[in-house]
Amino acid sequence: MQNFLDRIAQIVGAQHLITAAAATQKYTTELRQRYASECRAVVLPADPEQVAAVVTCCAAAKVSMVPQGGNTGAVGGAVARREQVIINLGRMNRILEVDAANYSMRVQAGCVLADIQQAARRHERFFPLSLGAQGSCQIGGNLATNAGGINVLRYGSARDLTLGLEAVLADGRRYCGLSNVRKNNTGYDLKNLFIGSEGTLGIITAADLKLFPLARAQAAAVVGLQDADSALALLSSLRAATGDCLTTFELMANIAVQAAVAHIPRQSDPLPQQHPWYALIVATTSHTAAESDDAETALQRQLESCLAQAMQQDIVQDAALATNDRQAQQLLRLRENIVTAQAFEGGSIKHDISVPLAQVPEFLRRAQHAVQAAMPGARPYAYGHMGDGNIHFNISQPPDMERAAFLAQAPQIHELVHEIVHQLNGSFSAEHGIGIAKLDDMKKYKDAVSLALYQQIKRAFDPHNLFNPGKVNP
Ligand code: MLT
Ligand code: ZN
Repeated sequence: MQNFLDRIAQIVGAQHLITAAAATQKYTTELRQRYASECRAVVLPADPEQVAAVVTCCAAAKVSMVPQGGNTGAVGGAVARREQVIINLGRMNRILEVDAANYSMRVQAGCVLADIQQAARRHERFFPLSLGAQGSCQIGGNLATNAGGINVLRYGSARDLTLGLEAVLADGRRYCGLSNVRKNNTGYDLKNLFIGSEGTLGIITAADLKLFPLARAQAAAVVGLQDADSALALLSSLRAATGDCLTTFELMANIAVQAAVAHIPRQSDPLPQQHPWYALIVATTSHTAAESDDAETALQRQLESCLAQAMQQDIVQDAALATNDRQAQQLLRLRENIVTAQAFEGGSIKHDISVPLAQVPEFLRRAQHAVQAAMPGARPYAYGHMGDGNIHFNISQPPDMERAAFLAQAPQIHELVHEIVHQLNGSFSAEHGIGIAKLDDMKKYKDAVSLALYQQIKRAFDPHNLFNPGKVNP
């Protein structure tokens, strides 16, 4: 085996082959510390040629590989076993091209999402993928997991934002699907197999991404709501009134807002009184710089008048509108902080579900009732992308229960919640993927034909099961 590692060191340089346990820890520590992860080595290739050479070397030695980006995934997709090699793309972090006229950019897989957003902005363009981990997650991982975030309502998820990509296959060949044309109707769309495959079909090394006009005018608000039905009614009327200006509509349960207020320094409730539910609303338009001040005022007035009307109709209880960018950022920070704050509330059993939009209130009613009946004192800590019908229905432990005893109930709670999702024709994994966390649900809820096709596709791309074995396919 030393020979094998020597060969890898020759490809990437000894300093980019990490074997010491202390140094591999950064790559084996899983976000939620739910899964133990180990590895034989972490390899940091510098370019697609090195990725291909490393894969060829691993394939010859029958060593399986775990492709990894920023290691921020939520379902254990980048977790490795002792005998495996982690191929981390972090060194491949070059923005290869921004084609402003074509509204596209070409990036290496290891680019950090926030760096991509900034590069686009420097060219007066907008890359809309936006999520909590954007300061450290990498675009290769975003594509491999078909990441979502807070702007999906208007711009779609990672899949919708990708024009083409390049990937290394399990036998070391390179699939060259880089292309920045918007229309390409030439046979099977292979890029869409790699997107969302969580590193089980190939290692994405570069991608062509769609860009949009830079949003110059923004209006943001946080509103207080009596129930989720009101949120649905408000969302519907805002979409009708603002057209495709509505970018973000995030629902937040009161418990989540109050946890952020209690645990995160300088976080306050934007509204003077507590409400059962809150929604964060962002609308944007792109106008020329000369018009921008007026555009912003007009958009804010439009949002204000929609909310005033909703208050008259008793749909909205109260509203806080941002009047400048700093205030808008503060409102957005509340949504980010409720994710961090949850850890302070003890153990958490998490769900990342979606249902058809109109069913969100019904889902919340049924799931809250079922969970609290099964475990008195359990505290549903729901928030998420209501505009996409995607709710992070997380359950915080009863305060007087042992954390370990609570977490031991996770399988039963998952079953209750996912069964309701199934009855409402939803998805048990709307955003975070399957990894190893949702394999049982795949078995239970995916139809037999889909599962058989997945296996066939996996065999066609990776006949020796070398790429991320044991993930996605149950
Ligand atoms: C979010 O929307 O904030 C994340 O997807 C939630 C999470 O990290 O669980
Ligand atoms: Zn999310």
